[in-house]
Amino acid sequence: MKLCMIGTGYVGLVSGVCFSDLGNDVICVDKDLSKIENLKNGIIPIYEPGLDELLIKNYKNNRLKFSTNLKDSISKSDIIFICVGTPTKKNGNNADLSQVFNVAKEISKSIKKFKVIITKSTVPVTTGDEIEKIISKKVSKKFFSVVSNPEFLREGDAIRDFIYPDRVVIGTDSSKANRVLKSLYLPIIKKTSRYFKTSRRGAELIKYASNAFLATKISFINEIANLCEKTGIDVKDISFGMGSDQRIGDRFLRAGPAYGGSCFPKDTRALIDIGKKFNTNLSIVKSVILSNDNRRLLSIKKVIQIVNNNFNNKIITFLGVTFKPNTDDMREASSISMIKYLNKKKCKIRYYDPSGEKVEFKNLKNVTYYEDVRNACLNSDLIILHTEWNEFKSLNFKKLVKKRNFKIYDMRNLYSPDKMRKSNIKYFGIGR
Ligand SMILES: NC(=O)c1ccc[n+]([C@@H]2O[C@H](COP(=O)([O-])OP(=O)(O)OC[C@H]3O[C@@H](n4cnc5c(N)ncnc54)[C@H](O)[C@@H]3O)[C@@H](O)[C@H]2O)c1
Repeated sequence: MKLCMIGTGYVGLVSGVCFSDLGNDVICVDKDLSKIENLKNGIIPIYEPGLDELLIKNYKNNRLKFSTNLKDSISKSDIIFICVGTPTKKNGNNADLSQVFNVAKEISKSIKKFKVIITKSTVPVTTGDEIEKIISKKVSKKFFSVVSNPEFLREGDAIRDFIYPDRVVIGTDSSKANRVLKSLYLPIIKKTSRYFKTSRRGAELIKYASNAFLATKISFINEIANLCEKTGIDVKDISFGMGSDQRIGDRFLRAGPAYGGSCFPKDTRALIDIGKKFNTNLSIVKSVILSNDNRRLLSIKKVIQIVNNNFNNKIITFLGVTFKPNTDDMREASSISMIKYLNKKKCKIRYYDPSGEKVEFKNLKNVTYYEDVRNACLNSDLIILHTEWNEFKSLNFKKLVKKRNFKIYDMRNLYSPDKMRKSNIKYFGIGR
């Protein structure tokens, strides 16, 4: 099949590469010229394990192409995926749909034969209706069908999630579009048999409801962790005890920092706005957002407490700054508010992240990127384990830090408090 992915970010690039690997002809389009030039040279703009090999293989096989020419790419394709960003609007909760609507206008100029147009971007309920209206201003409805096919991949596990999805959700009332999509996804759904067809609005809401529910699980266990700290209980036992119940499940039930990333914060906010638009009070989601905002402040308060509010000449090292491991994505990572706060204090901040240096901290005085764990930790007063990259899971801190009385704030509960105590290391976890 001939596919066009509009927007070559985390979602568009991963889906485009995976669809090409399944034997389709895919053109990945982006308006960012340098991104496309780099991709043509095998330089990948994101950190996603396994993506480079798959991309280079399919690019060499000529099944995968990169372009900045939207018009040409649309006219050469039968199935068009909209994968552009839907960030939160400035000064509001609602999703900024300008990128989606701009693309819809462009598509409407280039339809000469039947095309299935799919929103893979996360878009509020009724956005499909709006896209249909925009395109039908220029093109008869006979020549296109607008479908919702939300993406559930997780950064860091994106390829596995794409090839072995828990479900493929297709929102359409058109049997023709459904047939096209079923055969496109056939190699994937054969393995999982989880193709779920629903209404277009239904598919749009499934995505927001799923993300809001996962955010709720994280915030829930984070609040229980606060209670554990006051009652001398280890929250890891609670996660295990609760998560072993199959009705609850153990995923997204580990206490840690505030949730971040490009999806949960913006999607929970957008869901509140959707509720408002349809006169529905989503009070649980509102509480989750509030709880998560409080958690960002709580992490900072904890650091103040750990250093006894004495930052003078302290060296504080962050191990990991991304919002989760195996990604370079810094959007809404809790490390940002922590480092920005600490930077105003009289201390020196170092950080090391396997995905490299971050623009977010480049202009901050006294915040330095280190290229390895060893140098980052040497002589530190406080190590903050912020992101659970594998390489941080079995470190010998005494050998690395080589300083008396250093402390560890393990925001992912990677280490055993008992072992730390036995090694005479002042150790602070979350909810334990
Ligand atoms: N990142 C994730 O893990 C994830 C997972 C599921 C769903 N989503 C959703 O998918 C959508 C895309 O997310 P992302 O993280 O891939 O975004 P991103 O910001 O990484 O990529 C979006 C890309 O679209 C391009 N673009 C914007 N307007 C364009 C235009 N007119 N023509 C061509 N290209 C254009 C941008 O240059 C950018 O490269 C969002 O709605 C997001 O909520 C993201």
